[in-house]
Amino acid sequence: MAAKTSFFDAMVTRRSIYALASESPIPDERIIEIVNHAIVHCPSPFNVQSARAVILIGKEHQKLWDIAYEAAEKLFPAPVFEGLKPRIAGFRGGYGTVMWFEDAARFNVLEEQMGAQRWAGVRDKMPQWSEHSSGMHQYAVWTALEAEGLGCNLQHYNPLVDQRVQEEWKVPVDWSLKAQMVFGKPVGPPRDKTALPVGERVFVHKS
Ligand SMILES: Cc1cc2nc3c(=O)[nH]c(=O)nc-3n(C[C@H](O)[C@H](O)[C@H](O)COP(=O)(O)O)c2cc1C
Repeated sequence: MAAKTSFFDAMVTRRSIYALASESPIPDERIIEIVNHAIVHCPSPFNVQSARAVILIGKEHQKLWDIAYEAAEKLFPAPVFEGLKPRIAGFRGGYGTVMWFEDAARFNVLEEQMGAQRWAGVRDKMPQWSEHSSGMHQYAVWTALEAEGLGCNLQHYNPLVDQRVQEEWKVPVDWSLKAQMVFGKPVGPPRDKTALPVGERVFVHKS
């Protein structure tokens, strides 16, 4: 990626792609390498390194979306579920999913390392900083996968699927599922998107 696409350009290429085929333009090893790279290099509060990723490919990926289908069928009234069915089928039709977790146990370690007094000053912030860090990891991988020709979309079927996911992939109970990033070969364009004027969102003060 770095050799071919600048990060500046990759920010534009990263879009939500829902039309995905069960193929990949890059080898599985490269997908895994990209996730590993993000896990090692993305930032986390006090370098707590609480992000966890479980990569599902092929039939394992399909299993996740079968779990989501069954859970949604049980939970939602029929008209809502009917609307969800084609969406879930679309995710299942992709090539893989990265499940993103945050490991709460790492924050217990951090608390011990910091000591009671320092921890008291930041404890309230940790839940949101954990989410921020997870989002940074997700963004890095989303952007990198799409820069290499995959399409991705980001889903949140947690907590609906949490228990089955824990059982199926032996996920530690301390890991909290944050997002499911579906990927596959893009077979359709991204949806239209509008952008608010930058001048309403960015302000510069310089002296
Ligand atoms: C934190 C976050 C949560 C999102 N959750 C979902 C989701 O649950 N389902 C979905 O289809 N897209 C989800 N998206 C994708 C956004 O809808 C999408 O990024 C936005 O509309 C801009 O489109 P783009 O990704 O093509 O730039 C999420 C994006 C972010 C950043």
